[in-house]
Amino acid sequence: MTPTDQQHEQWWRDAVVYQVYPRSFADADGDGMGDLPGITRRLEHLRDLGVDALWLSPFYTSPQKDAGYDVADYTDVDPRFGSLADADALITRSHELGLKVIVDIVPNHSSDQHVLFQRALAAGPGSPERELYVFRDGRGEDGELPPNNWTSIFHGPAWTRVTEPDGTPGQWYLHIFDTSQPDWNWDHEDVHALFRDVLRFWLDRGADGFRVDVAHGMVKPEGLPDAETNAEGLIDIPEGELPPYFDNDGVLEIYREWRPILDAYEGERMMVLEAWIPEHRVPRYIGPAEAHQSFNFGFLQARWGVETLRKAIEEPLALADAVGAPTTWVLSNHDVIRHASRYGFDADYRFGEGLRRDEVPDAQQGLRRARAASLLMLALPGSAYLYQGEELGLPEVREIPDALREDPSHHRAGVPGRDGCRVPIPWEQHAPAYGFSPSGASWLPQPEEFGPLSVDAQDGVPGSTLEMYRAGLRLRREFELGRSAAPVEFPGDAPAGVLAVRRGELTVLVTTGAEDVTLPADSAYEGAEALLSSVAGTAAVAPGAPATVLPAQSTLWLRSA
Ligand code: NOJ
Repeated sequence: MTPTDQQHEQWWRDAVVYQVYPRSFADADGDGMGDLPGITRRLEHLRDLGVDALWLSPFYTSPQKDAGYDVADYTDVDPRFGSLADADALITRSHELGLKVIVDIVPNHSSDQHVLFQRALAAGPGSPERELYVFRDGRGEDGELPPNNWTSIFHGPAWTRVTEPDGTPGQWYLHIFDTSQPDWNWDHEDVHALFRDVLRFWLDRGADGFRVDVAHGMVKPEGLPDAETNAEGLIDIPEGELPPYFDNDGVLEIYREWRPILDAYEGERMMVLEAWIPEHRVPRYIGPAEAHQSFNFGFLQARWGVETLRKAIEEPLALADAVGAPTTWVLSNHDVIRHASRYGFDADYRFGEGLRRDEVPDAQQGLRRARAASLLMLALPGSAYLYQGEELGLPEVREIPDALREDPSHHRAGVPGRDGCRVPIPWEQHAPAYGFSPSGASWLPQPEEFGPLSVDAQDGVPGSTLEMYRAGLRLRREFELGRSAAPVEFPGDAPAGVLAVRRGELTVLVTTGAEDVTLPADSAYEGAEALLSSVAGTAAVAPGAPATVLPAQSTLWLRSA
């Protein structure tokens, strides 16, 4: 096998992976909640888009306290989403269409409805059942204070006190997310065994890989030490550092245990880690004995501008090169404000916890920059992860009534929460629920602005966001941009305010400013062929035309003359 064949075999190295959020993709049975048969019926959309794989957020048995990231049974399908037979059908149909399937694995915590947690509660303090989770006695005279000062990622304390079987207030259990999500005790061999079985269960059913949730969690520091506090006694985690429960070295051993399991299966099964950690800490997790890749969230967090974007490209590439791994690119997912809205703010913006009604982005600027950023991303080497609806240019929805919000962080802390990026997808402009559900039901209301953004309204329309993504993906494949063979170079002759990225015969120009940029007649790009622009209908950058004017806040792909 030549090195090229071998690289080709490692499909994940340059794959474009489309994240499907099951409850919001397509609803086949009309209950207003998306489901697996709905996804299977809409798989042609992914094929036509030109992606290589889909990643399914959790569809397992779950009380849905955190939209399925609270798993009660890792080896069954929640009846809301269908059955195991439906999961098998989805995987089979995806493979027929040439799409790989990545499933989500949630190993840091389970649901409090998991049978093992229920048994732990019933068995009482000191029992072997309690050892599977992180139970501790409280501090204070009567154990009325939590065992340490850790706080939850969803705000509030990371501990909840239980009532013991005899009715007395008892021990506390750790949950670094919602109360309904108790952390597993990864110092226990039975927890390791359970997850080895879960991996094999889905690998046996044909899953091509795993997205590992909270991949930097799981292993907690010895003795569960308090987080550092400031003079007022408040937890004070310096910028760029993490709470004590994240990124402990022991977690790497879990990937070293899992990797041989994946490698024993045919067909390059992979794992991609969800680890929100400082960039320089990521390479430790990646390698031939560890995970295949990890989400690079730096690009998603980068401010709009030549230097910030360049840094967000150069740094992860250098870090990935050092460990011989491909990097990954992400602009949106189910946890962050959609990039079509995020880029609608100039000043400091948050990327998590949703938008309040009064935080109004500049929608036009947001979409323009979002399209430009997406085309930049698709020209980069490594794999790219798309989030359902970004190919339609969907915005974050701000107008969700509080009573309908489901995100636990909204209920715990009153922040808007992540529901605004999880609103069901519009498929058909003139159908009930925009084609999401045959009954017109939708677990979150879709705003009217979704209508013209529907798949059928953009299909075949030159310059639509959907057609831009399709063209970008087609050219990415044609030019093999995902492979690292053509290095990423930053030519020094780009006009002010323009980020230029060269990949072999392709040059990508991103204009970051609010004004159009005219390329000087003697520019290095004179006579180059414009292949694709993120701004439709601009004559000077029409496909095949020689490039002269670069529209403001846009990306242009050029082939050297
Ligand atoms: C990360 C997931 O992406 C997010 O949706 C979830 O709430 C937390 N992990 C907890 O599982």
